[in-house]
Amino acid sequence: MGCRVPPTDRHLLAIEGMHPPQIAALLDLAESYALLNRSGKTPRDRLRGRTLINLFFEDSTRTRTSFELAGKRLGADVINMQVSASSVNKGETLLDTAATLNAMNCDLLVVRHAASGAPALLARKVEAAVINAGDGTHEHPTQALLDALTIRRHRGGLEGLTIAICGDVLHSRVARSNIFLLTTMGSRVRVIGPPTLIPSQIDRLGVEVFHDMAAGLRGTDAVMMLRLQQERMARGLVPSAREYFRFYGLDAEKLAHARPDALVMHPGPMNRGVEIASAVADDPRHSVIREQVEMGVAVRMAVLDVLAQAGANG
Ligand code: CP
Repeated sequence: MGCRVPPTDRHLLAIEGMHPPQIAALLDLAESYALLNRSGKTPRDRLRGRTLINLFFEDSTRTRTSFELAGKRLGADVINMQVSASSVNKGETLLDTAATLNAMNCDLLVVRHAASGAPALLARKVEAAVINAGDGTHEHPTQALLDALTIRRHRGGLEGLTIAICGDVLHSRVARSNIFLLTTMGSRVRVIGPPTLIPSQIDRLGVEVFHDMAAGLRGTDAVMMLRLQQERMARGLVPSAREYFRFYGLDAEKLAHARPDALVMHPGPMNRGVEIASAVADDPRHSVIREQVEMGVAVRMAVLDVLAQAGANG
């Protein structure tokens, strides 16, 4: 498959700073991989001889599995590091771990870490292309790319759309990456949530802030719900899950304020009955949550392809 993506960085660490043509070209390539995946005709020799290591210091189902699948579909050798069974448990540092993997001539290093900036730190120390698979509350770039691809498939583009990002924005790397991507591509972005879960000065990122779901959802083209990240909360920022759902959980009544054909999205994992009602999450007239997962594989194939070629030419 010919790569039509303009020159990019050697790593994918963040959406912030990416330019519209880079994003559009990555989405175009991902779209072609989505079609090839459906037809079962993926180019299995594209990454032959390349080694991809998944290094996840935080739990993951979708991201880790889809990077593994993406690498294997393109013919790479894929290794999933079991961090819980690695020498990290004997005190080995992040940098020493990465240097060890680097010495094995790995080409692509996919990193998830609880510390914001950890993948960027590694990128300065290793020769492999580093892909940020989610770092603390900073960014989750491939999630934003797969979300954008999903929206684009249903709406034909991103420019001029109004997209609501709802819930625990404060702790969400998904929200940050989506805000950067969607505003860069010309969408209007609203963030909706309780004052305790909306970062102060987030309006500086070019978004509108709402604390009322009905007002914020009015006329929106897509509604992205966020997981309530209780594990990152130092103290109780919400009174109770029940109370949270009443005011900020997406149910059919609140969704009725959005456009009649609004897309319902969630990066997963979902807390059903906390940030989203099952009736909405599973409603085929609105929900594209399963399609987001499918697009995740296509987007990660595109990212691996582009970075592997950049490494080969660099
Ligand atoms: N959306 C997302 O990052 O899911 P995982 O934590 O399962 O990878």
